[in-house]
Amino acid sequence: MENALNLDTVLLAENKKDLIILDQTLLPNECKYLTMNRAEDIWEAIYSLRVRGAPAIGVAGGYGYYVLADQVETEDMDTFVAECTKIMEYLNSSRPTAVNLSWALNRMHGVLLAEKDGKTVAEMKVRLMQEADAIREEDIQISRNIGAYGFELLEKLGKGVGVMTHCNAGTLATAKYGTALAPIYIALENGWDGKQDLHVYCDETRPLLQGARLSAYEMQAAGVDTYVQCDNMASYTMKSGKIGIIFVGCDRVAANGDFANKIGTSGVAIIAKHYGIPFYVCAPSSTIDMTMESGDEIRIEQRKPEEVTEMWYAQRMAPEGVGVVNPAFDVTDHSLVTGIITEKGIATAPFKESFERMGIKPVEKFVDKK
Ligand code: MRU
Repeated sequence: MENALNLDTVLLAENKKDLIILDQTLLPNECKYLTMNRAEDIWEAIYSLRVRGAPAIGVAGGYGYYVLADQVETEDMDTFVAECTKIMEYLNSSRPTAVNLSWALNRMHGVLLAEKDGKTVAEMKVRLMQEADAIREEDIQISRNIGAYGFELLEKLGKGVGVMTHCNAGTLATAKYGTALAPIYIALENGWDGKQDLHVYCDETRPLLQGARLSAYEMQAAGVDTYVQCDNMASYTMKSGKIGIIFVGCDRVAANGDFANKIGTSGVAIIAKHYGIPFYVCAPSSTIDMTMESGDEIRIEQRKPEEVTEMWYAQRMAPEGVGVVNPAFDVTDHSLVTGIITEKGIATAPFKESFERMGIKPVEKFVDKK
């Protein structure tokens, strides 16, 4: 089994014209890369979770913006900017909850608007490619830093610790290392024995099974003692005393510390509070959206009913015509969060003040002021 750290989730092809993504819908059974350069294909890859996880879709958004901008055939900068605005809006419509997608697209567009004067369209295209590369490179360093802070918590708990996680916030969800699983990779780098010193419990994460398919694969392939549990078994495992800490990723954190993550996360947090288990959110600071006061403002993506009734089953298993609820994310109240681990340090309540001390500010929206 290939160690997932050796797999690139998103990258730019050598020809600098195509986006390459690892198709995560096929994992763990098949490791297949897709090459694409059409707007509809990039949109579909993000919507269908071929590339997924908040930081990874940010990286895909950055490269997607560049690949499509590079195809715009004009030497007129105003026309180029107008086409890039359309590209940004189109890609941004693929998934609404993870702020990283709009953050990365906005960052690309901001570079265009700030640097277009005095540059040709051809020069601007090169500059956009550099920015997309920078988003990817920074994500690797940010994930490592999150992992280092998380590892400090693991060291305090001591070797043999049980870690629970929900969904997949591992290396597959980022450019490398992940957020919630980064502390595990850093522990292994520091000589911890995956079989003796770490026990990772992965919620299967209905309906799209990112925990069973992706986190369990990553952890097992890295040589960690790994368990998959149905989502409704989390309370049982927590009560058993096997879990010392919970690490989850997130898609958007509001200024007050409320955060959206994969559906089911808030239930895990509520149970963790009941059993007194520390519950940490792992997030790059770009996931903190200081423009939103609380989680009530976060838009929750609603997805297709078939993901609940049919997908992953040999046969449809729910009655035809039944109503289906399929929110992709839920919001966890900040009162349930022990800390939010970012690349700048660990934020604690009151979160808004903690974020401000870290220098996290509302992101400026770049709009073409013509
Ligand atoms: O729908 P998904 O698979 O993109 O959801 C992913 C999650 O909820 C992750 O926990 C989150 O994006 C953080 S990834 C580092």
